[in-house]
Amino acid sequence: MIDLRSDTVTKPSKAMREIMAQAEVGDDVHGEDPTINALQEYCAELYGKETALYVPSGTMANQTSLSAHTQPGDEIICEYGSHIFNYEGGAPGVLSGVQLHPLYGDHGILTAEQIREAIRTANVHHPVTRVVALENTHNRAGGVVYPVEVIAEISELAREHGLKMHLDGARLMNASVATGIAPIDYVRYFDSVTLCFSKGLGAPVGSIVMGDEEFITKVHRYRKIFGGGMRQAGIIAAGALFAIRNNVDRIRNDHKNARRLAAGLNEIDGISLELDWVQTNIVIFDVDLEVMNAAALCDAMKQREVYMNPIAEQRVRAVTSLMVSDEDIDRAIATFHDVL
Ligand SMILES: Cc1ncc(COP(=O)(O)O)c(C=O)c1O
Repeated sequence: MIDLRSDTVTKPSKAMREIMAQAEVGDDVHGEDPTINALQEYCAELYGKETALYVPSGTMANQTSLSAHTQPGDEIICEYGSHIFNYEGGAPGVLSGVQLHPLYGDHGILTAEQIREAIRTANVHHPVTRVVALENTHNRAGGVVYPVEVIAEISELAREHGLKMHLDGARLMNASVATGIAPIDYVRYFDSVTLCFSKGLGAPVGSIVMGDEEFITKVHRYRKIFGGGMRQAGIIAAGALFAIRNNVDRIRNDHKNARRLAAGLNEIDGISLELDWVQTNIVIFDVDLEVMNAAALCDAMKQREVYMNPIAEQRVRAVTSLMVSDEDIDRAIATFHDVL
């Protein structure tokens, strides 16, 4: 089977499992798990943030951050395709009593000008704009990398207006590997940053939130409230620490494979895509509806052991990861030819 559904399908390697089996553990709710403490220190240093907190998922990393930044009635500016708007079950409303103000970006990228127009004026009728939340890379836009100069402009605007900057950095390492820009040079513009270990980095569980002490103290409290306080979780954190230490560089291969897949798909009648926008490990492409729709294509591919997800009537998302070898890409392209 060739699994192109997501980079969340990655399974821990033998080496990672061995490290996990040997992990030293303690009660993390009391801050006594040495492996989790080591992971938090490692990430905070790598990202140039004061401190960090390990949490069970990317969704919890985003939602504890948003809760820590806001009060009920506040508003968060984000992009229309963002994960916090589409794929977190309406959590900002449920958990923080805030609303999202989504704006359409060009391939997921917002400009400072768009955000400036969306910031609320002080008026009793309006919610209070409190946070600008960006996503890098942008998942639904197809793994698009946020240009660092655009981030800098948005951050300057946010400072002018006293807004917090939050980064959903689930795949920030993909952005960093693709551009050669160090993570620290992306995250210096943000008050809060998340990173997922269980996507392209290949660990089985967990994400991390980073920021200053005051912010992380609040995140810690929300992690407990949301039921995310774990105990001897050093066993899973050891996988995350292994991943961040060993699996960043190999992401390059996922990007190469995504580009090869995109180039192969681009040659096939009935498929269209924007090659220039395949920047990391995600390939989004459209199927000609006169040939078949996205769901039918994915079904036909699945029967031939190649798995992908339709994300709209015409649109399919394919994601490369450490579960997908170079040969798998050749086989997947041949299977597309077969089906189409
Ligand atoms: C950009 C982005 N943010 C957050 C998440 C949430 O991660 P989790 O599934 O661990 O909650 C995902 C998951 O795919 C994601 O793609």
